[in-house]
Amino acid sequence: MSPMNSEQAKARTPALSAQSLDRFDREVAKYPTDQRQSAVMACLTIVQQEQGFVSAESEKLVAEYLHMAPIAVHEVTTFYNMYNQQPVGKYKLNVCTNLPCQLRDGARALKHLEQKLGIAMGETSADGLFTLQQSECLGACADSPVLLVNDTTMCSFMSNEKLDQLIVGLQSAEAEKS
Ligand code: FES
Repeated sequence: MSPMNSEQAKARTPALSAQSLDRFDREVAKYPTDQRQSAVMACLTIVQQEQGFVSAESEKLVAEYLHMAPIAVHEVTTFYNMYNQQPVGKYKLNVCTNLPCQLRDGARALKHLEQKLGIAMGETSADGLFTLQQSECLGACADSPVLLVNDTTMCSFMSNEKLDQLIVGLQSAEAEKS
């Protein structure tokens, strides 16, 4: 596979901004030249920050840019659930349904959100606001039921009342912006 630098990438993929490709360069520069693959997670994050998800085409671009096999990049994208493989709603809700949480109302929390939002796990609400997903252990089993909002904000001890408050709060915040 022939190496591709950021200038070639810019020429080939107008969908990814020059700023993002410059960020690729800065991430790669943090590692020895023969270990540029170490920047794979950072590059996938940059793609997602710009485009909202990591498409198969973007995986190929990252693979070529980092001199990796496309399947190796795909393995990273699919291993970590913070990478979206398709467009998601403005708020991605990941409810932990791993065994310890299942024993402490994780399934109940997921079911409640499905009913509240009118969507099934894996779907996005018609207004584009919410995507509901289940997740593996979030490392907070003692706080179950737990969910993660947009891969960053952990919500603990999510009773039905707290789930309702969360949804209403996010909907209200969006309504105020419009
Ligand atoms: S099993 Fe849910 S946070 Fe660990």
